[in-house]
Amino acid sequence: MDRLIFKLLFIGDSGAGKTSIILRYADDCFSSNAVSNVGIDFKIKTIEIKGRKVKLQIWDTAGQERFHAIAYPYYRGAMGIILVYDVTNRRSFENLSTWMRNIDEHASEKVEKILLGNKCDMEAQRVVSRQEGEAVARQHGIPFLETSAKNNINIDLAFHNLTETILLDIALERLTAKAEAAKEVKRLTAATDADSKWSSWCCYS
Ligand code: GTP
Repeated sequence: MDRLIFKLLFIGDSGAGKTSIILRYADDCFSSNAVSNVGIDFKIKTIEIKGRKVKLQIWDTAGQERFHAIAYPYYRGAMGIILVYDVTNRRSFENLSTWMRNIDEHASEKVEKILLGNKCDMEAQRVVSRQEGEAVARQHGIPFLETSAKNNINIDLAFHNLTETILLDIALERLTAKAEAAKEVKRLTAATDADSKWSSWCCYS
């Protein structure tokens, strides 16, 4: 059985909680004094879904605007993109349209996406409702979850769902390729049959 390695990329405004979500998922830890990213970094975690082991290479990017361009080459190889905003920061939510444009411009057309509204533990400071998050996700046709890296809410589920969707895409691609190959074999066999009928007719005439 072949080894599966999926590249995932985190994007979103600075301070939305990208690094914290990755650290919660990969190392099961959380720090309230996380340092802002200044480049690109990655973590590895192996996940098992429906009996298939998948190695996730999880790329973390810097949310600060001056570092955006550094990440563009990483969009291309990403099989999944996790777009994060902070439910206590409206600007990070409003900037989602810019992030979506970046994905359209720099990522593969086939990339799977998920939108996360992070810091849902901070109910008293919330300024973006769950309904608003759901609406923007619906508008872009992507799945949505509210998460908390701090309280470990929906973190595993977000990775699980995204990985499962990528696995399904691959399975579907392989099936389509097999069906196309079968069609081609049928077409070639029919053509060979026609040729041999023609040559036998030729020889005996
Ligand atoms: P950049 O590296 O600048 O792009 O930021 P980032 O998106 O990686 O954010 P980071 O993970 O550094 O988190 C920013 C701050 O928010 C840190 O102080 C975290 O502790 C805090 N934080 C992250 N996730 C949560 C969360 O789910 N709940 C709460 N209460 N705080 C969080």
